[in-house]
Amino acid sequence: MTGVDAGRAAFGMPRSPGATGDAGSAGGSDEPAALSPVAPDARLDPEEERRASNLDAVLARLDAELVGLLPVKTRIREIAALLLVDRMRQRFGLAGQRPTLHMCFTGSPGTGKTTVAVRMAELLHGLGYLSRGHLVAVTRDDLVGQYVGHTAPKTKEVLKRAMGGVLFVDEAYYLYRVDNERDYGQESIEILLQVMENNREDLVVIGGGYKDRMDTFFSANPGMSSRIAHHIDFPDYPVEDLAAIGRLMLAQAGYELSPDAGGVWIEYLRRRRDQPRFANARSVRNALERARLRHAGRVLAAGVPLGREELVRLEPEDLLASRVFSAGD
Ligand SMILES: Nc1ncnc2c1ncn2[C@@H]1O[C@H](COP(=O)(O)OP(=O)(O)O)[C@@H](O)[C@H]1O
Ligand SMILES: [Mg+2]
Repeated sequence: MTGVDAGRAAFGMPRSPGATGDAGSAGGSDEPAALSPVAPDARLDPEEERRASNLDAVLARLDAELVGLLPVKTRIREIAALLLVDRMRQRFGLAGQRPTLHMCFTGSPGTGKTTVAVRMAELLHGLGYLSRGHLVAVTRDDLVGQYVGHTAPKTKEVLKRAMGGVLFVDEAYYLYRVDNERDYGQESIEILLQVMENNREDLVVIGGGYKDRMDTFFSANPGMSSRIAHHIDFPDYPVEDLAAIGRLMLAQAGYELSPDAGGVWIEYLRRRRDQPRFANARSVRNALERARLRHAGRVLAAGVPLGREELVRLEPEDLLASRVFSAGD
C-alpha cells in the first residue's frame, strides 16, 4: 500500500511546474506536478481518497455555514465527485490534461456566490488542483486601467496575486462594453483568456454576476464562454431561508430573537424583499446590524443592571423601528 501513502503525501503539493522556486522543495525526489502512479491492477479506496483530500470537511463546512442553496450544494458535490475520480484516473495514468475548472456563478447580490467561491478554492486545493487555494476577488476597476498602457500591467498584477488560487471576477460583464470596442476592458479580457486557455496554469477563474447580463457577455465573448466548464445558478432565497440565515448569523454573533421578535422578523423579511436594493443574505446581515444598534440603545436607555438575557435577546421593537415598517402602506 505504499503507493497510496505516497499519494497522500503528494496531496496539496503545488502542481505548477516549479514556477518561482517556492521554499520547501529541497527533498528533490517528489514530482510536485504529478500524483504518484499506481500499478494497473491496484485498487484505490474512494474513502481513503476523500479523507486525503479533506473533501468531506470542506463539504461539511459548506453545509453548515450556508442555509438552503440545495441545487448549488448538489452541483458542488457533483463537481467534487468528478474531480475525485479524475485524481484516481490520473494515478492509473488514464487522465489526459488537467480538466477545465473555470466556472461561472450567476445570481443576484447576496445569494452566496463569493462565499461558495471561497469554499470551491479550498476544495480545489484539497484535491490538488490549486497549490494555495486562496481567493482573490476583483471587479473591473481592479483589472482595467484608465489610460493607454495601464490595463495590461493591472490585469497581470491581479493574475500574479491570484496564482495558485481562485480569481473571482465579480460582475465580469462590465469588462465588456457593447457600445465601445476600444474600451480597455477588451484588453483585460484577452489577457484573462490567454491564462484561461492554458489549462496548465495553477489558477481557476470564476466569473460572477446577474444571469441575464452574464449570458449577454458570453454571447459577445464566445471564447470566454467556451473556457467555462461549470455554470452554477444561485437562486434568490425564499423568506424561510432568509429567516433561517438571519437566525444563523445571530447565533454566530451570540444573539437570539425573542419568541415575539421571531414573527416580526418574518414580517420584516416579507416586506424588505419587495423593496428596492434588496440583496438577499447581505440585506439580512445589514438588517441585523441595525437591529443590534437599536438593541444596544434600548437596553442602555433602560438605565438598569443588565442580565445575560437582556444582552442576548432582540425584541420586536428592535426590528419594528425599521423604515421597512413605516414606508409605503
Ligand atoms: N445561504 C446562506 N446562509 C448563510 N449565510 C449566507 C448565505 N448566503 C449568503 N450568506 C451570507 O451573506 C453575505 C453575502 O454573501 P456573498 O457570498 O457575499 O454573496 P454574493 O457574492 O452572491 O453577493 C455573506 O456574509 C454570506 O456569509
Ligand atoms: Mg459577491
